[in-house]
Amino acid sequence: MDFLEMIKTRRTVRRFKQDPIGIDTLNDLVECARCAPSASNGQPLEYVIVSDEPQLSGIFDQLAWGAYVQPKRNPPAEFRPVAYIIVLISSERVLGRFGPVDAAAAIENILLAAWSKGIGSCWLASVKRDKAKEIVAVPDGYEIDSVLALGYPAEEPLMEDCSDESIKYYLDEDDRLHVPKRPLNEIRHINKFGCRGQ
Ligand SMILES: Cc1cc2nc3c(=O)[nH]c(=O)nc-3n(C[C@H](O)[C@H](O)[C@H](O)COP(=O)(O)O)c2cc1C
Repeated sequence: MDFLEMIKTRRTVRRFKQDPIGIDTLNDLVECARCAPSASNGQPLEYVIVSDEPQLSGIFDQLAWGAYVQPKRNPPAEFRPVAYIIVLISSERVLGRFGPVDAAAAIENILLAAWSKGIGSCWLASVKRDKAKEIVAVPDGYEIDSVLALGYPAEEPLMEDCSDESIKYYLDEDDRLHVPKRPLNEIRHINKFGCRGQ
């Protein structure tokens, strides 16, 4: 797939097939995170790959899914993620306020790299962090920024322009997830704010 097409077609997935993701692939995703930009090249991020029980179930229980489509997009047992990458920020290495910014850049690399391999993902910031840290034995001096849920997609969400003011994603009568995005013409300004162009 063309790279721009890849960016445009990546969608958050909350239902996953149960096919495993190999450790080489998961390592590759972390390698892509490692290549991301970092403020002052401080590199405060570390990653925990989770692909085995009991950690898989333990982490699942600390996550909150799809706030606008509750409870329908809580993945049932047969659709749960098959792996997670937990993104950690080292308090010792972090520079000022840039930890979450670095994390966002690295996370987007992971999500796109995953999608390039046909792997779906959900970026979760709604995480019970203390319990999640305990489950994967994160020592003092590290904070969890986000948890990335991974697996081959078992749903095909559809991105569409917001037709009204609502940015809330929703499920249609066929249980398909629709993801409204503000139209290009509304968010883009040409040369001066408010100049819309064509
Ligand atoms: C910082 C951040 C935190 C998010 N946290 C959650 C979360 O806790 N649970 C969840 O189900 N989705 C979460 N998402 C996924 C968003 O809901 C999703 O990106 C948004 O609906 C747009 O859909 P798209 O990724 O398909 O474009 C998060 C996304 C971002 C960027």
